[in-house]
Amino acid sequence: MQRLYRKRIVLGVGGGIAAYKSAELVRRLRDQGADVHVVMTRGGREFITPLTLQALSGHPVHLDLLDPAAEAAMGHIELARWADLVLIAPATADLMARLAQGVADDLLTTLVLATDAPIALAPAMNQAMWRDPATQANAQLLGERGMRLLGPAAGSQACGDVGLGRMLEADELAQCAADCFQSQALTGKHVLITAGPTQENIDPVRYITNHSSGKMGFALAEAAAEAGAKVTLISGPVHLPTPDRVTRIDVVSARDMLAACEAAMPCDLLIAAAAVADYRPEVVAQHKLKKDPSSGDGLLLQMVRNPDILATLASRADRPFSVGFAAETENLLGYASRKLQDKNLDLIVANDVANPSIGFNSEENAITIIDRDLQQSSFAQTSKGKIARQLVDFIADRLHRA
Ligand code: C5P
Repeated sequence: MQRLYRKRIVLGVGGGIAAYKSAELVRRLRDQGADVHVVMTRGGREFITPLTLQALSGHPVHLDLLDPAAEAAMGHIELARWADLVLIAPATADLMARLAQGVADDLLTTLVLATDAPIALAPAMNQAMWRDPATQANAQLLGERGMRLLGPAAGSQACGDVGLGRMLEADELAQCAADCFQSQALTGKHVLITAGPTQENIDPVRYITNHSSGKMGFALAEAAAEAGAKVTLISGPVHLPTPDRVTRIDVVSARDMLAACEAAMPCDLLIAAAAVADYRPEVVAQHKLKKDPSSGDGLLLQMVRNPDILATLASRADRPFSVGFAAETENLLGYASRKLQDKNLDLIVANDVANPSIGFNSEENAITIIDRDLQQSSFAQTSKGKIARQLVDFIADRLHRA
C-alpha cells in the first residue's frame, strides 16, 4: 500500500549534518507514491549536493528566491500552492528561529509563509542546542501555530554528544508524513460519494455522455477515507484507480447509479460529485441504428428525464447530510443557490466549468461553497486533491454542528 500515493510534497533541506539522511528520505517518500520537489537552503547545500537530490526526486532542486530562470519554471508562490505538505528535514535551530520570527529571506522561509499546506518539521541539532530555552520556545511557538514537530530522537550524535536532537530516520519520517494526511474528522461516519459521468445508451454501440473525468469525486473519496470515514464510491465509467480503503461500485447509467446508491443507504453524508445525464433516450434500439434516407440529413432522438439521484436521496426520511455540486458556465452562484433549495441540500459546491484551468478533466479546481443561509465560503485554485481535503474538513465541521 502506497500511503502517499500522488501526494505532492515539498521537502525543505536545512543546513545540518542530518541532511545526508534527506537523500534517503526522498527515496522513501517516492516509494510511498509521493511526488517530491526539494528546496534547499544555502546551508543545506554545504552538506549535500543539489545534484544528488535532483537525481533522487526526478525534479530540478529549487535553490534561490530571486532566480528568474527558476521562477519562470515554477515560481515560489506556485510551489507553495502545489504542495500538499511541506516537510522540512533537517530543521536546524537557526531555521526554526527564522520560521518562528516569520522571516522570509530565502526560498524556503518564503514558501513556508506563502503556503496553506500543512507544515511538518524534523528538528536536527546538537542536544545542547535543542535544550536551549530559545530553541524550546521556538519549537513551542511553531507547534502552537499548527506546525507538526516530528522528533527529534535521542541517541548518539555526529558531534559525539548523546541526547535529544537526532533527526528521525528516513523510514520513520516517511510514515509521519503519511500520518499528516490522516485526520479523525469523519471517524465512524458512512460517506456515500457519486463520481464521474453516466452513459446513456442509444443503441448497442452508441451512447450519450459528458466530459466528467471523475477526478474530483475520487479525490473526495480518498480525502474522506483519510479522515476516517467508511466510504462507498459509486462511479460512472472512468479511468481512475480506486483509492485505498474505499469500496467502489461501478455503474453505467443514471438509473444504475440511483439503484446502487439506494442499495448503499443508509449513510451519514452524501456527496454527489457525479455529472449525471439529465436525459436518456426513451428507447434503446436493439440493433445498431442505420442511416435512414427517409429522414433526410437529420436524426430525431426522443429523450426522457432521468431520476435526480441527489434530490431523491435528500428527500428520504433517513436523508443524509447532503452536498451537491453545481458545475456551471454562467450565473454560477445564482444557479447554485437555486439548486441548493430545489434539491433540499445542506451545502452546494459551485465551480465554474467555463474556466478551462478548473473545468472538467483538469487537474485543479477552485470552489465556492454555499450553505442553507446562503453564506459563501471560497477555496482558491489548487490541485483537486487539496481542494478535496479542504472540502472534506469543511463538510465534516458542518456535519458535526448539524
Ligand atoms: O441539476 P444539476 O445536474 O445541475 O445538479 C447537479 C448536482 O445534482 C450534482 O451534485 C449532481 O451529482 C446531482 N445530480 C444527480 N442526479 C441527476 C442530476 C444531478 O444526483 N440526475
